[in-house]
Amino acid sequence: MRTLVVYESMFGNTRHVADAIARGLASAGTVSTVPVTRADDEDLSGYDLVVVGGPTHVHGMSRASTRRGAVDTARTQDVTLEPDAASEGVREWLGALPRTHGKAAAFDTRADGPVLLTGTASKGIGRKLRRLGFELVAESESFLVDKESRLEEGEAVRAERWGRMLAQRAGSTRAETPSALDE
Ligand SMILES: Cc1cc2nc3c(=O)[nH]c(=O)nc-3n(C[C@H](O)[C@H](O)[C@H](O)COP(=O)(O)O)c2cc1C
Repeated sequence: MRTLVVYESMFGNTRHVADAIARGLASAGTVSTVPVTRADDEDLSGYDLVVVGGPTHVHGMSRASTRRGAVDTARTQDVTLEPDAASEGVREWLGALPRTHGKAAAFDTRADGPVLLTGTASKGIGRKLRRLGFELVAESESFLVDKESRLEEGEAVRAERWGRMLAQRAGSTRAETPSALDE
């Protein structure tokens, strides 16, 4: 099985989660993990599974304005900005993709708290993936950061387990091919 993991990350947490998910997926084949800023050249039809994740900003996927906010946050908090952090996010990348088909899954990182208060970027990512024609092989999943924007203990292990589960699901379900009715 060939899997592509595309992630957006400002402070590194979503990258760590993406890497952990990729370790879990690696039990079932080859995995390419790329930041969204380098995903434009990827041919998604070459993959059996596409996994997309990003940080939750203002209850959903980041925008240019919230990424600027994160850059400001990095000036005052003990966090390090990822390369290209303030450029394109998953919202823009997904928005530019053509209609397609295949299997996919969505994840995010967010603050630890009731989802009604925090929001969750993966819900929007999953919705967009479905609209593009993907079949989601699992419910979208959140991985939690603490108040200092650091991944909580145990979350990387949970992400690796989630990756293994995705590999099993993607291996055992058949992706729907687009029908003329979908066009
Ligand atoms: C501008 C900004 C807005 C944020 N808004 C939310 C939010 O609405 N809900 C939430 O749970 N976390 C929010 N956060 C926390 C981020 O989800 C957290 O920093 C992110 O998951 C860390 O991932 P990263 O290290 O990959 O950037 C926000 C962070 C920033 C910088």
